[in-house]
Amino acid sequence: MSESKDNYYYSEEADLASTDDSNRSKATEIEIIKNRKLEGLRIPLEKDVQAKDTSTYLEYVTLIHNALPELDIDEIDTSTTFLNHKFSAPIIIDSMTGGTDEATVINERLAMVAEELNLGMGVGSQRAGLLSDTLKESYSIARKSAPNAFLIANIGGVQLKSITLDDVKRIIEMIDADAIAVHLNPLQELIQPEGEPKFKGIYSKIVELVKSIDVPVIVKEVGSGISRDVAVRLELAGVKAINIAGSGGTSWAGVEKLRADNSKAVMKSHLGELFWDWGIPTAMSLLEVRRAVRIGIIASGGLRNGLDIAKCIALGADICALAWPFLKCAAESKESVLEYAKMLIEELKASMFLTGARDIKALRRVRYNLQGPLLEWFRAYESR
Ligand SMILES: Cc1cc2nc3c(=O)[nH]c(=O)nc-3n(C[C@H](O)[C@H](O)[C@H](O)COP(=O)(O)O)c2cc1C
Repeated sequence: MSESKDNYYYSEEADLASTDDSNRSKATEIEIIKNRKLEGLRIPLEKDVQAKDTSTYLEYVTLIHNALPELDIDEIDTSTTFLNHKFSAPIIIDSMTGGTDEATVINERLAMVAEELNLGMGVGSQRAGLLSDTLKESYSIARKSAPNAFLIANIGGVQLKSITLDDVKRIIEMIDADAIAVHLNPLQELIQPEGEPKFKGIYSKIVELVKSIDVPVIVKEVGSGISRDVAVRLELAGVKAINIAGSGGTSWAGVEKLRADNSKAVMKSHLGELFWDWGIPTAMSLLEVRRAVRIGIIASGGLRNGLDIAKCIALGADICALAWPFLKCAAESKESVLEYAKMLIEELKASMFLTGARDIKALRRVRYNLQGPLLEWFRAYESR
């Protein structure tokens, strides 16, 4: 695995702790990854790395109000089935972290809530967990804390080129995963000081992966959205679901731009600023992908409340995922995560009541209006 040694995380201490060359380079790699994981948590928590001049475009979606819903609020059923698992509500805590002590605490809090409310949860990229048992613990804590919840393993598309099938199996076993998500993050790899913007060959690796493992493969973006054409190729590859992760929420160009500033990587920083808001807004990506494929769709990228979730279900999502708001809560306490998740469910129920949707199936059929740039884009899309 190639990691540049001239980035600012290179640790002399890790070097001295090891005796032979191979131990030394492994210890260095672990140290580099741990530091990067820590930065990847701290920057989104402490700095503003949300979309700047763009949005999810969900504000251009209006669900049609039903003044005569013919149902009582306590009849509303938010449960849904996705990839053969029954969830109490269409909510997944999106893939975020692992690989540092701080991540162990965050994953434990998130998993406890996923278990308590029967929601789904993804862990962050698990390459670090392959390197050492201590790092492995930061991921496996999720299964320990959530014996029954739907858990999603995670690996980068770029990493698929350098790890073995056995490694992938270890990643899945690490959290006894119900599914594995492969993340596609070309923008992040481009801006990341030690990134690997080398995407040639990843598609065939995904095809191979789907054929070789027995848990469902999900492919996700990390905040720039999935287009119709990519969705069609992924469906052809045999992927079971797509997590669109559109723009309008957390910007990974933003996170990596701030890291590039710290390491004085001037060109990376410049590109990070220019492409901060790059991507397909979540509502656009969702409409586009829903019309292109029949496989499962997870809507994510900038979803912040239960009304956003309701809109995404009405636009065609099977289930929704949120990352950054859960991270903010998890950094505080498990109770804060629990309170936020319960609020999302209440907001979703309120949206269902006001649209006359008794259950998630009915919510999928409610009428909506599109406006502004979303409508313009949709008309152009339909006429293509
Ligand atoms: C702190 C943090 C770490 C993340 N790490 C990963 C990761 O390791 N793997 C991955 O697939 N996505 C990762 N993501 C991306 C999220 O899963 C999600 O796609 C993205 O943040 C958009 O959702 P949001 O706007 O709700 O944050 C991370 C997001 C955050 C905020």
